[in-house]
Amino acid sequence: MSPQTTHQHYRDVNSASSSPTSQRLRQLTKQHFVAELSQCLFDFVIQLLPTQEELAVKEDVRKLLERLIRTIEPDSRLLSFGSTANGFSLRNSDMDLCCLIDSEERLAASDLVTMLGDLLERETKFHVKPLPHARIPIVKLSLDPSPGLPLGIACDIGFENRLALENTRLLMCYAMIDPTRVRTMVLFLKVWSKRRKINSPYKGTLSSYGYVLLVIYFLVHVKNPPVLPNLQQMPPLRPIPKEETHMGGHNTWFFDDIDLLRQRWHSENSETVAELLIDFFRYFSRDFVYNGGVASIRAGLLKKESKGWQNEVSASRYDARERNRLCIEDPFETDYNVARCVTKDGLYTIRGEFMRASRVLATRPERAILALADLCDERKDEDLVTAPLFYAPSRQVPPQTPYSVGSRYMNQDPHYRVNKYLFARRRNIWLQNEVSGLVRHLLKHLPQTIHYMRVNWGWGWS
Ligand code: GTP
Ligand code: MG
Repeated sequence: MSPQTTHQHYRDVNSASSSPTSQRLRQLTKQHFVAELSQCLFDFVIQLLPTQEELAVKEDVRKLLERLIRTIEPDSRLLSFGSTANGFSLRNSDMDLCCLIDSEERLAASDLVTMLGDLLERETKFHVKPLPHARIPIVKLSLDPSPGLPLGIACDIGFENRLALENTRLLMCYAMIDPTRVRTMVLFLKVWSKRRKINSPYKGTLSSYGYVLLVIYFLVHVKNPPVLPNLQQMPPLRPIPKEETHMGGHNTWFFDDIDLLRQRWHSENSETVAELLIDFFRYFSRDFVYNGGVASIRAGLLKKESKGWQNEVSASRYDARERNRLCIEDPFETDYNVARCVTKDGLYTIRGEFMRASRVLATRPERAILALADLCDERKDEDLVTAPLFYAPSRQVPPQTPYSVGSRYMNQDPHYRVNKYLFARRRNIWLQNEVSGLVRHLLKHLPQTIHYMRVNWGWGWS
């Protein structure tokens, strides 16, 4: 081929790749992938729903426990909350139970937990672990697997946690507005986060409740047009006195007449569940401002400063201020960060997983089921990924939604783009923090340090 024909050849290839025909082809491939992925997502979550048998066993367990609790508190009711009650339950989900006592004279929650723990230990075959001094005192129960219950049962019983009952009802209402899209997305994300080992507040990642709130936040406030209305901001049908809308100082009102809502409100958004999921991963890997923003399903994107939830971006490792790396406002307890347990490494791991999911979906393999299998491939490593020392994503909160899918590539993400100047500045800040953290640490532990020096190195007075 002469140089001239080679040139011509490349020009032809280039113009062909951006020609209307090839664009149309790409579009068609994308549409095909998205349609197939939606179908795969439905099929996948349906087989993970609890069976009727499992639900019946759980209801029997609830009734048995209620009967036993009534021997201590005759005026009590034991109610389900969490996934068993909000429509986001998977096969073998744990049971969250709340005991309400309809009498003025009742014992403190911590005493009730201790008494109930003793009773259940005596009267049942459950493994019982009372936690009377937890922030919310609970009794933890578990039952080993048996032929009738191949996966056993795990159950938490708390007392008077009326806010949890209300937030369960709120999530259930959101699930009922658009069950196909909302439930499929939430259930898939729950399975995905469990398989990728980022669903454990005890280890520094996010609870299922936190992921559900992220999905609702995305569907109410990020997507434009929204997939869901904001139930907490819709006007009530009649004026309601404050006593009826507030619980323990928290405004728990929301529009809960879902049949009426369905008649009066329709989403203009017709995206498929697969399109929403792809966008969800993209938004939380790239666009959400982790450093400055708070995701609130009640009020949209808020600033950390407005809630006093700033965290030290380059806090030293001696510093215990790990809270508020990721901020998700509780819908009713608005001064409470649902993601307070997420550590620096936890957030780095979670965000890494959002990016991985985005990448997997962007490759659009020939069969959508392969993408699904890859997404949910179990992460072998139980540990969190250690965040690099100078990791500090951008601080600014961008203007509020609408969110449009931009054309930035992942490798241009500010998360990764640290220019020389910023790098040096962050290193200096880090060094200062590290030194002052070390000094604080040494001062705090001075008596032990002196003792250690005296014992091991023979320093000090003889
Ligand atoms: P699985 O147990 O994984 O099936 O998910 P789940 O939907 O039951 O969520 P999770 O166990 O994380 O939480 C159960 C319920 O407890 C939620 O629906 C809330 O009502 C309540 N809850 C959990 N975490 C918090 C929290 O941090 N703050 C408040 N206020 N309530 C919480
Ligand atoms: Mg639960």
